[in-house]
Amino acid sequence: MTRSVRIRRAALATGACTALAAGLLGTASGAQATAPTAATAPDIPVAAVKAHLQQLQSIAEANGGNRAHGGPGYKASVDYIKGKLDAAGFTTSVQEFSHGGSTGYNLVADWPGGSADHTVMTGAHLDSVKAGPGVNDNGSASAAILETALAVSREGFKPAKHLRFAWWGDEEDGTVGSRHYVDTLAAADRAKLDAYLNFDMIGSPNPGYFVYDDEPRLEKVFKDWFAAKNIATEIETEGDGRSDHAPFKEAGVPVGGLFSGAERVKTDEQAKKWGGTAGKPFDPCYHAACDTARNIDETALDNNSDAIADALWKLSS
Ligand code: TRP
Ligand code: CA
Ligand code: ZN
Repeated sequence: MTRSVRIRRAALATGACTALAAGLLGTASGAQATAPTAATAPDIPVAAVKAHLQQLQSIAEANGGNRAHGGPGYKASVDYIKGKLDAAGFTTSVQEFSHGGSTGYNLVADWPGGSADHTVMTGAHLDSVKAGPGVNDNGSASAAILETALAVSREGFKPAKHLRFAWWGDEEDGTVGSRHYVDTLAAADRAKLDAYLNFDMIGSPNPGYFVYDDEPRLEKVFKDWFAAKNIATEIETEGDGRSDHAPFKEAGVPVGGLFSGAERVKTDEQAKKWGGTAGKPFDPCYHAACDTARNIDETALDNNSDAIADALWKLSS
């Protein structure tokens, strides 16, 4: 899988070799490199997502133990993600804002092509709290949407709609970065957003599977993916103001997303359907120094990453 994916990307880069590579790879994968639109998302390799988490952990360690707004660990996180996106052919931009006497940064990445009048936007906050490295909150979704974006590039995905990704600064002081983005977006551009999908904490060590209940059409795409895998989901009802979908929702953009739980305690009933430990928080290291690369449930990270890719492919095809 990994090998064929590399060949395909190399083939795309050289152009002339695309047909040859498609022939070598067989019809299914080859067709994606040449024909517009493929409605089936690839499997997102969880090992690659975890490798990004390890990098974010190292960035925190090298910068005083966190990746918080205003500190060097945050800017280094932006540089890491941006480097991967630039190398994969995304058009990136860094939007600066100011909060609490420090400069904040939103990283925005556009995948060239698709109808810009119908844009599907996907976001995750990249900052941590000062207390720790923020690997589950929110390295987890930052890494998952990065790997999804890289999969878009590897597959040579040509969606009908335009794809935009964002990594928000300073969520932890109250969705500051995403609010700045929405506030400074021209009304005409805001109207072009068909959907905003938000992902915040998707690898909780004692995980639940929560789907935002804001927009039925978006909610259904996620619920269907989990139902097909026989994984129970619950509706996330407490999250309305708690992450970066809030400013989009307030501006009238349809929003959706996934969440694996934070400081709330898992009930007996939830432990029965999801496994894990009843009576303990979904994430005992929420906003704490122990939110490290060890504070991740790999299965939850894998499931949620694959669900994100599936939703993006379906909603933009
Ligand atoms: N970053 C969010 C916060 O610190 C995480 C969170 C908690 C969340 N509960 C949520 C995100 C519900 C989405 C939905 O508050
Ligand atoms: Ca996977
Ligand atoms: Zn948080």
